[in-house]
Amino acid sequence: METLISQKSNPGNSAEIRNLSDIDLEYEIRTLKKKLNAVILAHYYQESEIQDLADYIGDSLQLSQQAAETKADVIVFAGVHFMAETAKILNPAKQVLIPDLNAGCSLAEGCPADLLLKFKQKYPGHILISYINCSAEVKAISDIICTSSNAVKIVNQIPESQKIIFAPDKNLGKYIIKKSGRDMVLWQGACIVHETFSERKITKLKFENPGALIIAHPECEEVVLNNADFIGSTSGLLKFVTDSSNEEFIVATEPGIIHQMKLKNPGKKFIPAPPESSCSCNECPYMKLNTLEKLYLCMSGRSPEILLDEELIKKSYIPLKRMLEMSK
Ligand code: 13P
Ligand code: SF4
Repeated sequence: METLISQKSNPGNSAEIRNLSDIDLEYEIRTLKKKLNAVILAHYYQESEIQDLADYIGDSLQLSQQAAETKADVIVFAGVHFMAETAKILNPAKQVLIPDLNAGCSLAEGCPADLLLKFKQKYPGHILISYINCSAEVKAISDIICTSSNAVKIVNQIPESQKIIFAPDKNLGKYIIKKSGRDMVLWQGACIVHETFSERKITKLKFENPGALIIAHPECEEVVLNNADFIGSTSGLLKFVTDSSNEEFIVATEPGIIHQMKLKNPGKKFIPAPPESSCSCNECPYMKLNTLEKLYLCMSGRSPEILLDEELIKKSYIPLKRMLEMSK
């Protein structure tokens, strides 16, 4: 089918309307990568064809670490906005491109910095630890950032007497409280994708596949996590299925990760955990805004680009740097 991509569908891109069906997108993207001295970073929830073209695929922490270390001149971030923004904060002098500027995140959108600041003021003496799934403005008012793979490790490094506010994910927050034994004040945000998983349907799947282990991301609700044999970040889940001698897994996270699970474990069976309704809302609508066509267009037109105010970069860098140091 003919694919027409216009400037309208890729806001900020200066490319003219082009007939992309004549283009070998993979070849062109690889050529542009060399020409721009660019690195393509992709999250595990991206479409498989994007993952296959990426230089690095990873979870939020690994991608931040890659962004902090890269020698490339241009960072092309195939992920959501907060991830590309993090790459820009860590590399203010580099150009950071994202295939679709509208690739947001329900957690980031549900936690505006002005409201979080008011919330914070209600709890004097507390430090604010924010999950990386938040805006640069939220990072700028936070004391430390964490990801799902280092959250418990970071909270465990905070002195017992120090009170903590955790934002924006209440489900990850509850999971950290359970693992660390620390009490924390929680902002009541949630991921629209991980909240759709149905405990009822997962239990039914387990009944039908008794040998399968249930694995879940900590953004899932407590009732789903209570059924899980293993809980971890996307990279943690990938490592678990690869190291495990088990052959079957029910995967309670965005199904994009299953591409790498299958590549690393060709003989094993991965069953995506279903949402409560018969929708495909277990797929992240933001992550899936990025397509191979938009990846090509953003590299050829060098737009959309992440641009941030200098002062905001300076302030949001401090808690991110703390996170990178505390995760070593
Ligand atoms: P990870 O850091 O585990 O990859 O999580 C990112 C995310 O957005 C999960 O929904
Ligand atoms: Fe945000 Fe959820 Fe999508 Fe992750 S899966 S980017 S937390 S909306």
